[in-house]
Amino acid sequence: MERSSALANLATKLLVCLAICSYIISISSAQTSTNTQFIRTSCSKTTYPRLCYTSLSSHANLIQTSPKLLTSTALNVTLNKARSTSAMMVRLSRAHGMKPREVGAMQDCVEELSSTVDELRRSIHEMGQIKRSSNFGLIMNDVQTWVSAALTDENTCSDGFTGSTMNGNTKTVVRNAILTIAHLTSNALALINRYAELQG
Ligand SMILES: *[C@@H]1O[C@H](CO)[C@@H](O)[C@H](O)[C@H]1NC(C)=O
Repeated sequence: MERSSALANLATKLLVCLAICSYIISISSAQTSTNTQFIRTSCSKTTYPRLCYTSLSSHANLIQTSPKLLTSTALNVTLNKARSTSAMMVRLSRAHGMKPREVGAMQDCVEELSSTVDELRRSIHEMGQIKRSSNFGLIMNDVQTWVSAALTDENTCSDGFTGSTMNGNTKTVVRNAILTIAHLTSNALALINRYAELQG
């Protein structure tokens, strides 16, 4: 008798725990799906929506549903890709068998990528000042200018490889990486323009 009531008591506790746990899980998964849905919707207005979504969805918990965090994360993802590509190109340009002209094209590109990195870093920093500043329009104007300049630098870089006689594999790897950066930048610019429009 006593034992079965103890068991019933335990069973009740387990059920209550289960109910609470599944409630918490359902709330957090609903939040996650709200966050990823926000990214999907925002990305659908960019030029490369699939790349936009795949590059940002892993940051859904950070972005939540904030257009500002979405925009600065998109800039940061682009910055990280520009940095890693630049490092890769420095390594490649030191590889054996590169012709001086090819090394030259690589070095020019690394310089253009370094301007890109600089412009993106400044943009991210400037966006961080928004809360403390009433000059929202001015800040967004600067950010739009720098990110457009970054896009121009990336295009100059990839133009340097058109018609180059570089080893096919290396050329493809480099061109694809630059293209990805350019697409990420173009997406970030679309998100910036949208954010400026919404808040301005
Ligand atoms: C940008 O990305 C780097 C590398 O992933 C990370 O360490 C940093 O916290 C990020 N910064 C912002 C502002 O998101």
